Amino acid sequence: MASFPAWYFDESKMAGIDFEDIAQVEAFDRRQASSTPEKEQALVRRLGISSGHTVIDLAAGTGTFAIQASLNGASVDAVDISQSMLAYARSKAQKVGATNINFHQAGFLTYKHNNNLADFVITKAALHILPDFWKIVALVRMAAMLKPGGIFYLRDVIFSFPPAEYETSINDWIERSAKPKDEGWTVQDYQMHVREEHSTFAWIIQGMLTRAGLEITEANYPTPTLAEFLCIKSVSSI
Ligand SMILES: C[S@@+](CC[C@H](N)C(=O)[O-])C[C@H]1O[C@@H](n2cnc3c(N)ncnc32)[C@H](O)[C@@H]1O
Repeated sequence: MASFPAWYFDESKMAGIDFEDIAQVEAFDRRQASSTPEKEQALVRRLGISSGHTVIDLAAGTGTFAIQASLNGASVDAVDISQSMLAYARSKAQKVGATNINFHQAGFLTYKHNNNLADFVITKAALHILPDFWKIVALVRMAAMLKPGGIFYLRDVIFSFPPAEYETSINDWIERSAKPKDEGWTVQDYQMHVREEHSTFAWIIQGMLTRAGLEITEANYPTPTLAEFLCIKSVSSI
């Protein structure tokens, strides 16, 4: 943190689940049903990532997306704040022969990319870790890592229910999604997410993306608590 001001957010103090704990990392890899090799390969193809492309995966977790992008021919920078996550991801990549991945221990607010701007920056299931002011700082930083016309992809727990319906919407979400221990995220995991992490509304995220110079080309809300945004780095922000 030497080159950052004293008021800068300390992202090493992670909100929510402790992803430095190796047991949590292994449990996470088993539970993360939205991030199977098949689903991530489908996303890689949907985004058009292929040979010769450069990709940055911010908060790469156990590396499933980074591995699939690499297996499709891209050169990938996988960034995560957790050393345990990175060690796990590195070993997974070795096992499947995904060699074109550079792993970096850093965060949304501290990762310094080299001078080679990327074709794609993606971040999934992680931006909610930051409070809103720091989310937009992260988005500005990620936009700056992209080539002109480069693609930014965000998927996260983002709310699209009417604000006045927060209570029933959150309760319905937990009831619909929670699983018994060992089968997935539990009631307690969801409760902690809402209580301690910083998921926010889609209209706030949309405003942040636009102000970060990312033009939204596709917005999807598969459920009232999940959203994905596909963006292009605006020419006017270059
Ligand atoms: C829920 S996981 C998502 C992992 C992966 N992107 C996926 O889709 O499966 C959140 C990840 O964010 C990482 N993380 C937490 N705070 C971070 C930060 N400030 N910057 C970068 N990564 C962070 C955690 O270590 C963890 O690997």
